[in-house]
Amino acid sequence: MTDPPHHPRARCAGTTALVTGASAGIGAAIARLLHAEGALVALGDVDRQRGEALAAELGDRATYVALDVTDESSWLAAVDGLAVSPHPLTTLVNCAGAALRRPLLETSAAEFRRIVELNLVGTFLGMRVAGPHLAEGASIVNISSLNGVLPTAGLGAYVASKAGVSALTRVAALELAERGIRVNAVCPGSIETAITDGADFADVDWDAYLRSIPLHRRGTADEVARAVVYLASSDSSYVTGTNLVVDGGIAAGRLSPG
Ligand SMILES: NC(=O)c1ccc[n+]([C@@H]2O[C@H](COP(=O)([O-])OP(=O)(O)OC[C@H]3O[C@@H](n4cnc5c(N)ncnc54)[C@H](O)[C@@H]3O)[C@@H](O)[C@H]2O)c1
Repeated sequence: MTDPPHHPRARCAGTTALVTGASAGIGAAIARLLHAEGALVALGDVDRQRGEALAAELGDRATYVALDVTDESSWLAAVDGLAVSPHPLTTLVNCAGAALRRPLLETSAAEFRRIVELNLVGTFLGMRVAGPHLAEGASIVNISSLNGVLPTAGLGAYVASKAGVSALTRVAALELAERGIRVNAVCPGSIETAITDGADFADVDWDAYLRSIPLHRRGTADEVARAVVYLASSDSSYVTGTNLVVDGGIAAGRLSPG
């Protein structure tokens, strides 16, 4: 069975969401679904062209915000802009990220730092800068990865960055609970997006990989977005500090011995 249709229920009506990495892939799917569920959505990304095009396509209640998540001043400008709006921020989705497939002993310090800066420091800055503006009842959803909880060989920098995101999510949940702010992470397995299109992943045997996934397929960006809407909405009002795995069953264990 593939991805069944989703019927929006206005679960995010009255909320204002900032989604990073919203110009493409999983972030774009999250922005679309939050919007379909009634949210006002700010699409934060470095890719202005695609971000503005998606905001225009969504129309009312969607706007593009120039944002480089690795740059604190860029975060301050983006969040200040939203803070003066009549609709204060209630949902922050930290999704911007990139992967690097490189054996640890062949990874340069600059490559390692680039991935950690984008995936981990970018997520930290988002919570650090937007956190003080979030009201009681707000929700932060960080996009970690299955690799944040179950490492893959050859993805050392990525694994370290996402393990950091998963751990930091728990700390933020503990610290922000007193203010009534929930913080959770979604840990996607292999999802059909451009993140694995580059030369790094050219020699992956995808057929063999799919056979190893219990559901025998990669997930869709929309399937991740549904988990995010659950965590962003009051459907998950008693859920905080969790790392929700959306992986077709990989983390459940091995399909067969050996
Ligand atoms: N696709 C997968 O299989 C998969 C699996 C697990 C986790 N994830 C995570 O999901 C997130 C999104 O991945 P994707 O597959 O949609 O990737 P993608 O490459 O399709 O999209 C990434 C988006 O992030 C934006 N971006 C890059 N650098 C940025 C920066 N400095 N500031 C703001 N925006 C920036 C890009 O412009 C792009 O729009 C990432 O954090 C990734 O690690 C993806």
